[in-house]
Amino acid sequence: MKYLVTGGSGFLGSYVAKQLLARGDEVVCFDLPPKTGLEETSLAEVLTKDEMEKVKFVGGDITDDKKLVELCKEEKIDMIIHLAAMLTDACQKNMQLGIRVNILGTINCFEAARACNMKRVVYASSGSVFGNKTYARLGVVGNEAPHDPDSIYGKMKDFVEYCGKFYHDFYGLETIGLRFTVIYGKGRKRGGANFIKAMLNDPALGIPSVADATDGSNFVYVADCARACLLATQIPYKRHAYTITGETLPAKELLEYVKTILPDARIELRINENSSVPRIFDTTAEEQELGYIPEYDLRKGALATINSVRADEGLPPVGIE
Ligand SMILES: NC(=O)c1ccc[n+]([C@@H]2O[C@H](COP(=O)([O-])OP(=O)(O)OC[C@H]3O[C@@H](n4cnc5c(N)ncnc54)[C@H](O)[C@@H]3O)[C@@H](O)[C@H]2O)c1
Repeated sequence: MKYLVTGGSGFLGSYVAKQLLARGDEVVCFDLPPKTGLEETSLAEVLTKDEMEKVKFVGGDITDDKKLVELCKEEKIDMIIHLAAMLTDACQKNMQLGIRVNILGTINCFEAARACNMKRVVYASSGSVFGNKTYARLGVVGNEAPHDPDSIYGKMKDFVEYCGKFYHDFYGLETIGLRFTVIYGKGRKRGGANFIKAMLNDPALGIPSVADATDGSNFVYVADCARACLLATQIPYKRHAYTITGETLPAKELLEYVKTILPDARIELRINENSSVPRIFDTTAEEQELGYIPEYDLRKGALATINSVRADEGLPPVGIE
C-alpha cells in the first residue's frame, strides 16, 4: 500500500513513516517545506539514513486542496494518514489560520480521498475533545463520552470528528479519528512539550530543568500512537473515532522514577495549583476493536526517551540491567 502521511515531517508523522516502512508500505510524507532543511525536522531525527532514502518528502500546504488532489493522483496514493495540524497554542494565537489548517485541511484530505476513490482516511483527533468538566463528572471517560472541550483547539478537533462521521455516513468514506492524549518521546518540537522535555530530554543530557506539571494528564508514548495509526489502516470499520491512551501517572512519581535512573538529575518540579482532573479512560473500544494496548507504560517510555536522546549525543544508555 502507498500512504500519504500529512504532517509527515512532524513528531508523530515521523514515527508513522518509520513504522509504515517497517511494515513494507510505501510512504510519501507531506508537510510545509522546511525553512532550513529536512535535517532540522523530526523526520531526520527519527529515521535512519537508509529510511530517509526510502521516504519521499513533498513540501506543500494542506490548505491547498487542488495540489493535494493532484499529488494523491500523481502518486497513486491508496490511503491518507492525516496528521498535519497546528497545536493548542498556535491555534489560540491565530484562530483564522487554525481553522484553515485544522478544519479545512482535514476536509481537504477527505475530499482528496473521495476524488481518488480511496476507501479510508485515518486522521488525528485529540483527547482534548473531552474537557475537565467531563472528566470531573464521569470519573471514567468512555470512548463515546460527550465532548466538552476546554480549548479552541479541542473544539476544532471536535468539529473535525463531526465532519469525519458525516463523510462516512453521507459519502461512505471510512474515516477513523484517533484521539491521542499527551504524546511524548524523542523528536517532539511543538505544543506543550516543555514538561516532558524538562522531565526526560534535558536530564538525559545532564541539563538542569524546571518542569511545569499539570497533574492528571495521560501520557502516551509516540511509538504506541504510530502503532495505533497503523492498526487503524487495517481493522474492519466499526466506528468513527477511538481514544488512544497511555498512562496517567502523578508527576511526582515520574520524577522519582527518573531519579532512580538518573540520580544526578537536577529537575525542579512545579505543580500547577489549578491542576486538571485526572484523566481516566475506559479502554474497551481501543482494545477490542482497534486491537490497541499500549506497549509502553510511562516508565518504559521514559527510559526509551532518555536513552534515545542520549544515543543521539553518543552517550551510553542508562537504567538497563
Ligand atoms: N502532540 C500531542 O500531544 C498530540 C496530542 C493529541 C493529538 N495530536 C495531533 O496529532 C497530530 C500530530 O501532532 P504532532 O505532535 O506530530 O505535531 P507536530 O507539530 O510535530 O506535527 C504537525 C505537522 O503538521 C505540519 N503542518 C502544520 N501546518 C501545516 C500546513 N498548513 N500544511 C502542511 N503541514 C502543516 C507541521 O509542519 C508539523 O510538521 C496533530 O494532528 C495533532 O493535533 C497531538
